[in-house]
Amino acid sequence: MPVLAIVGGQWGDEGKGKVVDQLAEKADVVVRFSGGDNAGHTVINHLGEFKLHLVPAGIFSSRVLCVIGNGVVINPAVLMSEIAGLNKSGVDTSKLAISDRAHLVMPYHILLDELEEKSRAGKALGTTKRGIGPAFADKASRLGIRTCDLLDKAALKERLAMVLEGKNTLFTKVYGVPPVSLDEIYAKYCEYADFLFPFIKDTAALLDHALEKKQLVILEGAQGALLDPDFGTYPYGTSSSPLTAGACLGAGIAPNRIDRVLGIFKVYCTRVGNGPMPTELLDETGQKIREIAHEYGTTTGRPRRIGWFDAVAARFSCRINGLTGVALTRLDVFDTVPTLKICTGYELNGKRIDYFPASVAELEKCKPIYEELPGWGKPITDVRRFKDLPGEAQKYVRRIEELMGCPVNMACCGPSREQVIQLKPVI
Ligand code: GDP
Ligand code: IMO
Ligand code: MG
Repeated sequence: MPVLAIVGGQWGDEGKGKVVDQLAEKADVVVRFSGGDNAGHTVINHLGEFKLHLVPAGIFSSRVLCVIGNGVVINPAVLMSEIAGLNKSGVDTSKLAISDRAHLVMPYHILLDELEEKSRAGKALGTTKRGIGPAFADKASRLGIRTCDLLDKAALKERLAMVLEGKNTLFTKVYGVPPVSLDEIYAKYCEYADFLFPFIKDTAALLDHALEKKQLVILEGAQGALLDPDFGTYPYGTSSSPLTAGACLGAGIAPNRIDRVLGIFKVYCTRVGNGPMPTELLDETGQKIREIAHEYGTTTGRPRRIGWFDAVAARFSCRINGLTGVALTRLDVFDTVPTLKICTGYELNGKRIDYFPASVAELEKCKPIYEELPGWGKPITDVRRFKDLPGEAQKYVRRIEELMGCPVNMACCGPSREQVIQLKPVI
């Protein structure tokens, strides 16, 4: 049985939650490997509608071991309320395991996220203000607090005191805000520790065990390739790697164990937060797509920016992730859109380019070069076989496949688990 990584191919919100929920029916283990509660993964299935931020989308299949990997930064308060919400809806969370190496989001990370955004003034990144950037910065600076630190409360207090000395200097002397309280944070995190204790495990070892038994492991990504700190629209991106390479590190699995990589792409683009987006639609069409598709952020409720499918960025994402297949989502959103556009190249300083530039200043200057395809003008939400799609919809999917140079395995035509057209088996 293979290891399958499922990664976001664009700027996040591609429908990873839906696809993982669908494929998890066959899986033994599902591992979230990056990000934190900046992620919002929507799942609609026989148990209801769920917005997951930290818990893997495999949680609805009771036999699946769900792992929050070491590459995720965990806000314990968010995780606890997510677990409580799932339990209230009758979802069993007893097969959840949390890596003992995962870093924690602390209250001062959230405060710092807010203050840093404010200090960027006109150049704010538009973060989710969940403390994710500062938590990953502390991880790199070796100032992080990890889940394993919760298991020794005396050592936790000592480490927290050391870290807070620096943070409180920053708060009072640089930002001019009051210091945070060691005692309050310590008391809160001791409560979290008691709750989280049974879930904290050496999850990389659990994974190794699963691989030995030839079980099917799904690695669930958060965010999307174009938000990657190395290959995305830096600095307008997130702070951990949503790429396949990030899956290895963030789950604790060697690169040569990953067999397949499925990239999730909407049939158009969306972006929440700031930064360049060459195909952005600032006109009525963009507004119409936003309303039909209800494109508002799962985590922050912000309106998502809308744009045509960007095949230049998609090809780049495909290459950098080593995709073996693609799942296209939201095909049904185009049911009433008369003419569709796909960006096949950029014009930069009067010349055509077909690469995704490193510099956001250059990307801002890129003008999309489009080709047009006719829409299909009828509902497809009940279609389950590719050959039953209107010819125009088939052509649209095939054209994206051709431009990306990667097979389309699935096309989704609605938000619920069963609204999927399988073109080629994923696993
Ligand atoms: P994720 O972060 O990648 O898991 O994606 P989000 O859940 O943030 O956003 C994707 C949105 O698209 C959710 O509201 C899903 O319910 C919805 N969705 C996923 N696939 C489809 C589809 O094929 N058609 C429609 N109409 N909605 C979809
Ligand atoms: P899922 O997993 C869409 C964006 C934010 C902001 C930038 C940095 O649901 O696809 P951060 O809080 O990470 O420091 O914000 O990244 N962002 C996302 N956009 N979907 C997400 O997750 C995102 N997670 C972060 O909007 O532009
Ligand atoms: Mg999302």
